[in-house]
Amino acid sequence: MHKILFMNTIQKLIPLIFILILFNCGDTKNTDNKDSIKLKANPENSKSEQDTQTALISQGKKLFNSNACAGCHMPNNTAIGPSIKAITTIYAKQNADYIAFFKGKAEPIVDTDPNQVFLMKTNLDSYIKNLSDTQLEALIAYMKSVD
Ligand code: HEC
Repeated sequence: MHKILFMNTIQKLIPLIFILILFNCGDTKNTDNKDSIKLKANPENSKSEQDTQTALISQGKKLFNSNACAGCHMPNNTAIGPSIKAITTIYAKQNADYIAFFKGKAEPIVDTDPNQVFLMKTNLDSYIKNLSDTQLEALIAYMKSVD
């Protein structure tokens, strides 16, 4: 009776032992071969990167739509300021640096009419000045996500 129970337990353990062996082999292979670590790690990385990106975009959208930006910038149509799409298109073409503009270290390139520049500058000097780098990155991520 005891023997049968014992055999049963062993039989149940066999698949587990197999899995452990497989798992261990996989591990040793990975430490031997750095490329395979990279390949294995990449899908997970890009997934968590995607999650971070999605979170950043939704944070940016909230910031943007809190009166500070959306009052003057619509996604696709010119309002008081150029549309988000117009801005991101020009920034992408010129490979321009949003952060530099936000921090007052780069001249405006989208609309250089002094009155327009002045309108935007009031934001730089008030609202944008008080945002953290992460919040700025979030705003940029959101703007770039607009189709
Ligand atoms: C009072 C209206 C107004 C508000 C509010 C406003 N903008 Fe603007 N923005 C403008 C105008 C007008 C321009 C065009 C002048 C210019 O290009 O600098 C502009 C231009 C820009 C540009 C392009 C700058 C360039 O290189 O020419 C960016 C980027 C931008 N705004 C982002 C933002 C963000 C982000 C916010 C919110 C934090 C915001 N704006 C809030 C009016 C506004």
